Amino acid sequence: MVNHTVYISLLILWVSAISITVAVRVVPLPENNERPALKSNLFDTSNYGKLQLNNGLAQTPQMGWNSWNFFACNINETVIKETADELISTGLAELGYVYVNIDDCWSSPSRSLQGSLVPDPETFPSGIKSLADYIHEKGLKLGIYSDAGVFTCQVRPGSLFHESADAELFASWGVDYLKYDNCYNLGIKPEKRYPPMRDALNATGHTIFYSLCEWGVDDPALWAGGVGNSWRTTDDINDSWASMTTIADLNDKWAAYAGPGGWNDPDMLEVGNGGMTYQEYRAHFSIWALMKAPLLIGCDVRNMTAETLEILSNKEVIAVNQDPLGVQGRKVYAEGKDNCKQVWAGPLSGNRLVVAFWNRCSKAVTITAKWEALGLDPTISVSVRDIWKHEDMPEDALTSFSTQVDSHDCKMYIFTPQMAYQFAV
Ligand SMILES: *[C@@H]1O[C@H](CO)[C@@H](O)[C@H](O)[C@H]1NC(C)=O
Ligand SMILES: *[C@@H]1O[C@H](CO)[C@@H](O)[C@H](O)[C@H]1NC(C)=O
Ligand SMILES: *[C@@H]1O[C@H](CO)[C@@H](O)[C@H](O)[C@H]1NC(C)=O
Ligand SMILES: *[C@@H]1O[C@H](CO)[C@@H](O)[C@H](O)[C@H]1NC(C)=O
Repeated sequence: MVNHTVYISLLILWVSAISITVAVRVVPLPENNERPALKSNLFDTSNYGKLQLNNGLAQTPQMGWNSWNFFACNINETVIKETADELISTGLAELGYVYVNIDDCWSSPSRSLQGSLVPDPETFPSGIKSLADYIHEKGLKLGIYSDAGVFTCQVRPGSLFHESADAELFASWGVDYLKYDNCYNLGIKPEKRYPPMRDALNATGHTIFYSLCEWGVDDPALWAGGVGNSWRTTDDINDSWASMTTIADLNDKWAAYAGPGGWNDPDMLEVGNGGMTYQEYRAHFSIWALMKAPLLIGCDVRNMTAETLEILSNKEVIAVNQDPLGVQGRKVYAEGKDNCKQVWAGPLSGNRLVVAFWNRCSKAVTITAKWEALGLDPTISVSVRDIWKHEDMPEDALTSFSTQVDSHDCKMYIFTPQMAYQFAV
């Protein structure tokens, strides 16, 4: 608490003393109060929880690794096992990155004579069950990939019209997660093609995370909440600033539809793949965490730089993503040339806010968040913690907060309100 809040409170108490209709009193906010600190018009949660698939998973966004962004089709059981080993030895698994997800190209080009999917005998000679056992022994979970079409994107057999048999097979192997793609879909609407796999997975009796990948083509936020645990909102990401920023903005539109049980998915992380700078990767990770995006590492974890590991293992940023309140933060303010000075924010449990200052301009700038833009009561004071520096700011902030940010970098803070005002008529 800072002194000026006391003065304001005395002033308000004096005003209330001469008014018989309004009484105002200053109250410290309770610790661990779950009530959002923001005006509801800033963070529309009216769809929140309405559509969720009730398989008990995805209470917070999924975390793990996926083979596609770095390896594409160049995968085999050795690289998947080595990745699992590295997730453990780097400490990433302990931070929550538990899903080891195999993307396209694990299967043979054709089904068996009995009609089953078959792991590619050259690259996965021990089979998927054996890989799942290896991964489970390490306390991790195995994800696999198929497609709601007649072929996968790399022209392996798809699961359309084979939902029950394929779901049974995945369950019998001990698979924990299915990413379900959208290629060769015969022009049938996704609203028709995705629910049958949901039902087939459910019928196996095994709890399997269901990740929809229909690229955002049919506004999945509007219908996928009752179908999957997450749904892609955009085309594939690529390892560039242009792609990452475009996708962040597209995903932002659907903020009101995410919540525990079902998340918007702006695609997997590119952090560590080499196409962006350290500052850009830090911004990528910050904004994905704030948007409650799945945190699926997309680099070669067997060969990460210290900077990549530092970004991916920032506990405080991960905690924003995994916050139990589960409200997707969003862009709340932008100004300057092409709106390049941006403030993104979202409510957290414990009556806190996460506030990110993202500089998308070509040089360093100062970015300011006014309380009005954050939906905060103008009289509230907040303590401020920098979660990239892991440092508390020496002074509480009142009415606004400004910070200088390098080009393409993002600073991220936790605001904890110190005093609030209760109005009673
Ligand atoms: C497995 O895949 C990795 C990554 O592409 C590659 O470096 C390695 O040579 C492959 N191993 C085998 C046995 O094919
Ligand atoms: C199947 O769906 C029902 C109804 O939503 C749910 O209660 C149950 O937990 C689901 N089971 C599995 C294995 O996903
Ligand atoms: C990456 O995405 C950006 C933005 O969508 C696009 O302009 C660019 O062509 C893509 N690059 C590649 C290599 O696909
Ligand atoms: C490891 O990553 C560096 C770039 O950071 C690259 O130059 C090197 O070839 C990689 N090594 C392997 C074995 O992939």
